[in-house]
Amino acid sequence: MTRILVTGGAGFIGSNLVRHLQDDDPQARLLVIDDFRTGTFNNLVSEGENGWAFRGEVIARALGELDLYSLIDDFEPDVIFHEASITDTTVADQAKMISDNVEPFETLVNIAVEDGVRLVWASSAATYGTRANGAAQSRRPFELDDAGAPANVYGFSKWVMENVARQALEQNPEAHLVGLRYFNVFGPGEQAKGHMASMIYKLALQMLEGKNPRVFRDGSQARDHVHVHDVVSATIAASADGVTSGVYNVGAGKATTFNQVIDALNEALGTKLPAEYFENPYPFTQDYTCADISRTRSNLKWSPRFDPRQAIIEYARQLRDQTPRK
Ligand SMILES: NC(=O)c1ccc[n+]([C@@H]2O[C@H](COP(=O)([O-])OP(=O)(O)OC[C@H]3O[C@@H](n4cnc5c(N)ncnc54)[C@H](O)[C@@H]3O)[C@@H](O)[C@H]2O)c1
Repeated sequence: MTRILVTGGAGFIGSNLVRHLQDDDPQARLLVIDDFRTGTFNNLVSEGENGWAFRGEVIARALGELDLYSLIDDFEPDVIFHEASITDTTVADQAKMISDNVEPFETLVNIAVEDGVRLVWASSAATYGTRANGAAQSRRPFELDDAGAPANVYGFSKWVMENVARQALEQNPEAHLVGLRYFNVFGPGEQAKGHMASMIYKLALQMLEGKNPRVFRDGSQARDHVHVHDVVSATIAASADGVTSGVYNVGAGKATTFNQVIDALNEALGTKLPAEYFENPYPFTQDYTCADISRTRSNLKWSPRFDPRQAIIEYARQLRDQTPRK
């Protein structure tokens, strides 16, 4: 029987992952650790035609409060998927962001190395920051080596996690430690993220209320929007035996501008709501992100299945169908 530990399993990506793992292998023993700071039980149980219920165990505690060594000794996981993190990039308490995100991760890395457990963990495109300015200006995909100047403390915490994993691999090249730099993830299960939900979700909600979609002037900013089901398949691919350890980009490999997102949403919803532009109040937002996924394709034997425009249209229609009519 496969035994899998998912940290952050009540969150957006973690719960999609858990659902896939359970559907894929109903006999697998699944353990979620999540302190529900941004996750919700609603992500692990839902009604209706497409509903489901998680059948595994949940430990509702912060990773930093647990004795992870003895917990993992008892559970004996084959794989650890580490999704837990402070994900609100506007959290200003730098010490908390770094200690909450990095310290439990260091423990997981040590356990993975000592016990030979496969560890797949969430890094972020936020590790690119200003070192990718050249790539952003020439609008080319971000290569792995373009990372290294995160523009906020969240991105810095992920960068330090990458350093921890890299140093562990230098000492223990046989360890299975795979970090994934997710780009802008969207899809079912992100409702509870509030102001940190995807741009696609927030714009769709505005338009479903009949409001003009509001974006920074002039809407030409572009992001690599990747569907959560592609993120889940990449995460699972990263846990396969024989995968080369290291860090990989996980995106659609295509950049979609804010204006193109609005265009797709208008098509999905049958509306013609024009964008309402406003000045960007933040000096450091990235104008362009796009993942170079060539190494992800070759080393993880993974490719995204969802075309961003089509996936945005389908997702917006799902959101419309779930929204109670007035
Ligand atoms: N959503 C994106 O676009 C995106 C992009 C890049 C990277 N990521 C990374 O992917 C992972 C999942 O993100 P998400 O979008 O699902 O966010 P999320 O906030 O929905 O999920 C994070 C989960 O971790 C839990 N958690 C946080 N800190 C914890 C701790 N110390 N102990 C136990 N549980 C804790 C939260 O309660 C939540 O359920 C995160 O590591 C995030 O940094 C996400």
